[in-house]
Amino acid sequence: MRKIWAGEMRKFLYMAFLLILMEVGLSGDAVAADKLVTTAKSGQATAGKTKAAVNPEYGKEIFKNICIHCHRTDYDVSAVGAPGLRDVMDRHTPEWLNQWLTNPAIFAKKDKTARALIEANPYGLTMPTLPEMQSSQSRKDVIEFLKTLKGD
Ligand code: HEC
Repeated sequence: MRKIWAGEMRKFLYMAFLLILMEVGLSGDAVAADKLVTTAKSGQATAGKTKAAVNPEYGKEIFKNICIHCHRTDYDVSAVGAPGLRDVMDRHTPEWLNQWLTNPAIFAKKDKTARALIEANPYGLTMPTLPEMQSSQSRKDVIEFLKTLKGD
């Protein structure tokens, strides 16, 4: 009798142990699933961002916040002597712009066009190296926006 009880008890403990294991396992799965969802979400976000890598709307925001202090979007030279950026894509390639925007002064050391541009400025103001243009993503977006500045 005692032996049977012990056997039952062992079975019970074994089941309880299994249940606990399953519970832990399940919650572990839940965490893993959560992680998966998060990863998938951030994957989506990254995918979205990659898509936005050529987002002229975002580029426009950057332009409105930073570039507009010195540049006009028509043909006219601004009050500080910065060239109007309408049709700027006819003057430069995206690759040229990418380097110019990253660091105008450094680029001017190796690029004649950039140097000439700086030297031609009657006000002696050189376009600064902008912290906002240190992200290739932002440069792409701004360049995409510059493409929309087409005149007739
Ligand atoms: C503090 C003033 C200033 C700001 C801010 C500025 N620029 Fe400039 N930019 C200039 C000046 C001045 C020039 C003319 C070249 C020189 O003297 O450096 C220039 C030249 C350029 C050129 C070449 C234009 C041409 O006709 O060949 C482009 C393109 C340009 N800037 C884009 C931008 C963009 C995009 C931004 C914003 C992310 C920006 N700039 C922010 C002052 C500025």
